[in-house]
Amino acid sequence: MASFTDLLVQLLLLTTLFPTLALSYINSATTSIHQNAAKSSAYRAYIMLVQPPPLNPGEDPHHQWHKSFLSSSLAGDSMKSRLLYSYTEVFNGFAVRLTVAELDMVSKKPGFVRAFPDQTLQLMTTHTPEFLGLRNGTGFWSQADYGKGVIIGLLDSGIYAAHASFNDHGIPPPPAKGSCDAAQCNNKLIGAKSLIAGDDSDDEEGHGTHTSSTAAGNFVTGASYNGVGTGTAAGIAPSAHIAMYKVWVARDCKSSAILAGLEEAIKDGVDVLSLSLGSSTGASFDQDPISIGAFSAMSKGILVVCAAGNSGPTQRSVANEAPWLLTAAAGSVDRSFGANIHLGNGKSIEGEALTQIANPSLKLHSLLYSEKWRYCNYDYDSSIIGKILVCKDNKSKAQQSKIRNIVGTGAAGVVLFNDEISGYTTIATDYNCSVVQVTAAGGEALIAYIASTDNSSAASLAYNGTQFSVRPAPVVASFSSRGPSILKPDIVAPGLNILVAWPSKTGHEQGPFNIISGTSMVTPHVSGVAALIKGIHPNWSPATIKSAILTTSNIINGTGDSILDEQHRKAGVYDTGAGHVNPARAADPGLVYDLSVIDYAGYICWLLGDSGLATIVRNSSLTCAKLPKVQDVQLNYPTITVPLTSTQFTVNRTVTYVGPANSTFKTKVDVPRSLTVRAVPETMSFSKTGEKKTFSVSVSGHDLGKELYVERTLSWVSEKHVVRSPVVVVAIGGDTAPAPSP
Ligand SMILES: *[C@@H]1O[C@H](CO)[C@@H](O)[C@H](O)[C@H]1NC(C)=O
Ligand SMILES: *[C@@H]1O[C@H](CO)[C@@H](O)[C@H](O)[C@H]1NC(C)=O
Ligand SMILES: *[C@@H]1O[C@H](CO)[C@@H](O)[C@H](O)[C@H]1NC(C)=O
Ligand SMILES: *[C@@H]1O[C@H](CO)[C@@H](O)[C@H](O)[C@H]1NC(C)=O
Ligand SMILES: *[C@@H]1O[C@H](CO)[C@@H](O)[C@H](O)[C@H]1NC(C)=O
Ligand SMILES: *[C@@H]1O[C@H](CO)[C@@H](O)[C@H](O)[C@H]1NC(C)=O
Ligand SMILES: *[C@@H]1O[C@H](CO)[C@@H](O)[C@H](O)[C@H]1NC(C)=O
Ligand SMILES: *[C@@H]1O[C@H](CO)[C@@H](O)[C@H](O)[C@H]1NC(C)=O
Ligand SMILES: *[C@@H]1O[C@H](CO)[C@@H](O)[C@H](O)[C@H]1NC(C)=O
Repeated sequence: MASFTDLLVQLLLLTTLFPTLALSYINSATTSIHQNAAKSSAYRAYIMLVQPPPLNPGEDPHHQWHKSFLSSSLAGDSMKSRLLYSYTEVFNGFAVRLTVAELDMVSKKPGFVRAFPDQTLQLMTTHTPEFLGLRNGTGFWSQADYGKGVIIGLLDSGIYAAHASFNDHGIPPPPAKGSCDAAQCNNKLIGAKSLIAGDDSDDEEGHGTHTSSTAAGNFVTGASYNGVGTGTAAGIAPSAHIAMYKVWVARDCKSSAILAGLEEAIKDGVDVLSLSLGSSTGASFDQDPISIGAFSAMSKGILVVCAAGNSGPTQRSVANEAPWLLTAAAGSVDRSFGANIHLGNGKSIEGEALTQIANPSLKLHSLLYSEKWRYCNYDYDSSIIGKILVCKDNKSKAQQSKIRNIVGTGAAGVVLFNDEISGYTTIATDYNCSVVQVTAAGGEALIAYIASTDNSSAASLAYNGTQFSVRPAPVVASFSSRGPSILKPDIVAPGLNILVAWPSKTGHEQGPFNIISGTSMVTPHVSGVAALIKGIHPNWSPATIKSAILTTSNIINGTGDSILDEQHRKAGVYDTGAGHVNPARAADPGLVYDLSVIDYAGYICWLLGDSGLATIVRNSSLTCAKLPKVQDVQLNYPTITVPLTSTQFTVNRTVTYVGPANSTFKTKVDVPRSLTVRAVPETMSFSKTGEKKTFSVSVSGHDLGKELYVERTLSWVSEKHVVRSPVVVVAIGGDTAPAPSP
């Protein structure tokens, strides 16, 4: 049966160059390498998956076994330098540099499973705990004991261990210790390890310091970035332990190093893994080392949280799509760095300025906007002196330095407006001079004002410091990658203009705190929330924690309206996933949708067959013949996608009760009139924790008209709980891509 999901899989496979398994190694560049193979002896790094070592092993069975693949294939003396990593936890295998001829030889050996070329992967505060309802000394944060006893592992650019955010005041000794190459390891920072040959765990980039302190930085009072955003800095789980695995330097992030980091994190026994990086959109799970490695982590009880990617708002741009990952999208928070443009006509336009100018001149300056010089590509010219230039942000380093130059040589300031795609998402940038950033709408209003004034437009720039309770918030950030996939991303959390720890080294931008944006920043927020839940419920499976986070999330903002996207339209499920994370509710979800390794194995059989099972699950006692094939829509996921077929389509879900004592839940289904959606049974009663019940959801109806999909919700409501799942009904026959937003 060619269901809509088959179509989706095919479409995704079309974007990967090798949909067949005819080759024993999968590589988008393989063909061209093979074409040049005869001539080329260049080494290339490969990740090799092999079967477990045969019985009766020697002293170091894995290492010997891995070497045995290489011994006769490459010169012995070069083995040491060519074997990059040996893996036993993420899977059995190794990373090695080989020529194509050597690769052919190795791949013919008994025990060889697959080879992947080493890939370069994408990289993707003070206030966010409060925005998420976490307040010191009260309520859920203290009930969760700030994440005490939980270990969050991060795969990132290393860590600036001496930072105040990593002090261990009030933090008990860890349950397990990882190895630490930093002098400052303590009860907070319990592991710091570099998986980059010849490098230590120190953070040259700032990225890993930022993500670590977001997840679990300790309280630091008086944090600010050059005086803005002043407050107490804290991570989401400020008492949790941190283990850093350095897997990249100089923005060069290799899958072989990520697997080595996963390997160490699994050995060390971390509870939650935070990966602010990702493989490319549409990668088949059995060709994607992160999906494969994270499956091992998940099967050992570790929840793996990943970034959705920064390729939005393009549809179908989400990375890290495997259902065993928790994939996080980016939203704004209710804080801004206020600046206003007061116009000559008495009106004003609100903007933001990360560089807050003290005592600015309140004098009116002429405004200058020219289509020709719209990117501020002005040459030095007396016509710009004393004027406020209005320019469109093109997000380039070249523009940043041009702007600093222009203002340095006589312009009174620059108003930089977002392009249409960015809309209301302003990524606050430190220009270190008079620059006010405004939304696309703000830019339009300003240009309209200039056009209406016969060259007599004028304005002054006013700075108003850090603003809180800014509305609307959250708003999905333009860069945040979009679905669909199964239903990905899963969740939205803060990722715009996040202020946390930064290495204090050289220069103005560097430390001790910094403000940056991206789905990289979202990931540790969600990891921190997962750690808080894990602290309260140490025995919950990764899928249970994930379900709890998804079904309790918010789909409305603080005043009861829909969460918006970067154009201030109502955000959809492919923008936000289930909704915006709500930590306090996530700890008490009522019902959860659990998933075991066997459930995922059945899904992998449906999707990829035995070869996928052998690559991802790697359990020789499981074969697809023995497993029920689980279609993606039937996977016990906390969100529900149903194809609209000519007849009724039914999906089943099994929920596990995780509340105390007795509870009765009734369904509440919200669907458009053109559809019939029925949940059976309509009422479920539970008498004890751990009890499971299965229900089915049937959808029938006419076609969706012009819509490619509609989204609604199904909730199970008890006296204490609302367990909400988005339901996406997808028109069959058409493309499964979501309709462009109106
Ligand atoms: C918050 O609580 C922690 C631990 O109880 C304490 O160390 C810290 O100083 C508090 N911070 C503020 C701003 O009250
Ligand atoms: C962006 O603006 C800068 C400064 O005007 C210019 O040098 C650069 O070429 C522009 N880049 C793009 C991609 O438009
Ligand atoms: C506005 O200024 C531009 C360039 O300085 C000039 O070409 C144009 O004629 C002026 N328009 C009016 C109405 O003064
Ligand atoms: C300036 O900031 C104050 C305090 O945060 C706020 O009440 C006021 O509305 C702001 N003014 C403008 C023009 O944004
Ligand atoms: C919620 O969204 C509405 C518009 O959709 C907006 O007017 C309101 O200010 C928002 N509330 C908050 C708390 O952001
Ligand atoms: C920022 O600007 C100030 C004065 O305008 C200057 O002294 C300082 O060096 C600048 N910092 C950087 C990093 O450019
Ligand atoms: C392999 O699967 C079997 C059957 O479900 C299970 O009992 C066994 O624990 C699994 N082995 C590993 C190593 O996970
Ligand atoms: C769903 O559950 C019903 C009733 O238990 C069962 O008859 C049906 O086969 C199930 N469907 C799937 C796809 O598992
Ligand atoms: C739960 O319900 C069962 C049967 O309905 C009853 O026997 C039991 O006393 C109830 N337990 C509590 C704690 O209310």
